[in-house]
Amino acid sequence: MRRPLVAGNWKMHGTRASVAELIRGLRQLALPVGVEIAVIPPALYVTQVVTGLEGKAIGVGAQNCAVEPMQGALTGEIAASQLADSGCAYVLVGHSERRQILGESEAMLSRKFAAAQACGLIPILCIGETLAQREAGKTLEVVQRQLGSVIEQLGVGAFARAVVAYEPVWAIGTGLTASPEQAQEVHASIRAQLRTESADVARGVRILYGGSVKAANAAELFAMPDIDGGLIGGASLNADEFGAICRAAGS
Ligand code: PGA
Repeated sequence: MRRPLVAGNWKMHGTRASVAELIRGLRQLALPVGVEIAVIPPALYVTQVVTGLEGKAIGVGAQNCAVEPMQGALTGEIAASQLADSGCAYVLVGHSERRQILGESEAMLSRKFAAAQACGLIPILCIGETLAQREAGKTLEVVQRQLGSVIEQLGVGAFARAVVAYEPVWAIGTGLTASPEQAQEVHASIRAQLRTESADVARGVRILYGGSVKAANAAELFAMPDIDGGLIGGASLNADEFGAICRAAGS
């Protein structure tokens, strides 16, 4: 059985004061057993969140890491080793906002994925199609190419210690959610792609759904056989809403 994971991606939101408030709310949550839970604040607030959540069963992750695993001369970047040293356990790799707005290439993402793993972090590889790609009937092809590029560079074995997040770009922050059936189709295809190389890896890997997940639609998404939790953006900025989504993964 795969243990569900619910991760809250705070994106570029927060101030020290609002982060403190969110930590207070998270500390008060009744959390479901059997669900792994994480929050992913801006790097600047990682230490505040790690300290603030001490003793609470919520892990912390980062939204990005450098292509080089270790500290060194790379102005403006943060090494995976530094994230690990600060208490992170996860790092997002290839979020669509970074692919699209910052032009992160597939080659760069494989290096980040490898850097994260070299430092003991769990990469959460984000993949997903745009609306134009979906409308052109290219969804599965796009997702296969994004996943395939990391498999090709690092081997399928890299996914024994990684998480995949399927996030249709058209559903991110738009209020439009993939239907459970639409999401399941893509999740099943991701797992099938991994299975062609390793049945064990395919069976064990957690595939999260992300894109306008809220308490009201989480349970039906998480009920699908290949959806193993969620990557939650906007709704993770509200502790009670996030808690309700976490509980939906436990039922
Ligand atoms: P959203 O974002 O839940 O606000 O749509 C999800 C994500 O980008 O990870």
